[in-house]
Amino acid sequence: MKLVHSVLEWQSVRRQMPVSIGFVPTMGALHAGHAALLDQSVRENDCTVLSIYVNPTQFNNPEDLNNYPSTLGSDLELAKERGVDFVLMPQYDDLYADDYRFRVDEHGASQTLCGAHRPGHFTGVLTVVLKLLNLVQPARAYFGEKDYQQLSLIRDMAKAFFLPVEIVSVATVRDTDGLALSSRNARLTPEARRLAPTFSRLLRAEAPDGAIREELERTGFTVDYIETHAGRRYGAVLLDCGTHSVRLIDNVQLTVA
Ligand code: PAJ
Repeated sequence: MKLVHSVLEWQSVRRQMPVSIGFVPTMGALHAGHAALLDQSVRENDCTVLSIYVNPTQFNNPEDLNNYPSTLGSDLELAKERGVDFVLMPQYDDLYADDYRFRVDEHGASQTLCGAHRPGHFTGVLTVVLKLLNLVQPARAYFGEKDYQQLSLIRDMAKAFFLPVEIVSVATVRDTDGLALSSRNARLTPEARRLAPTFSRLLRAEAPDGAIREELERTGFTVDYIETHAGRRYGAVLLDCGTHSVRLIDNVQLTVA
């Protein structure tokens, strides 16, 4: 497994690489959800590239950015075990040599759900994903259904800009109690961690969105949104952890599409 820290070095490595490249972009603090994306990429491609980059432009909250978990040592171990060939870990000045003068703005779905609560978030996500896809030039790129709104927006962007890549979706990996795995779960206090699976359980309940919101609020969650679109229920909640709060997102398919 080769580690690459600069865009220039990457570009020279990329010129000598085989055709079928699978790409898994992440912000690190890797868990079994990320591993599922890597496993599928390793199965489906000659070569797998993982990127680890905590992208500052997609954080609307500086505290969230500063406290984003980092576990580089165990990330590299996991990547090696899963058969990753290259790990791309660029620096801000390198990836954003334009200092974020150029951005990908989406004017529809990105303004709803998480976009309505996190101004600028999806502009940051789409911009960094476009940069990374252009650098890696993969045949396939893998994204989790856990972040379904992100997945749909990236798929739409690839279509809108005729990007020569297949966007592959991977089912949400959950803990045994149903909680969707997330790097941010590491910041839950034991008490908040006990409460957290109620969120994924209630998302599946046969009840209107409003009733689920009320039940979550009664249980101790602060609700950003609970909304159903095209048979899929999306939710975002905050759990108070004393010194800080942790935001959880999840979504479930309610009806067969
Ligand atoms: P990150 O949160 O690290 O997630 C990287 C990828 O792993 C995303 O495609 C996400 O949907 C997927 N993932 C996370 N948890 C998962 C789970 N429990 N089951 C299945 N897949 C899961 O999403 C990002 O980083 C960033 O926004 C990024 C796309 C890298 C751009 O900066």
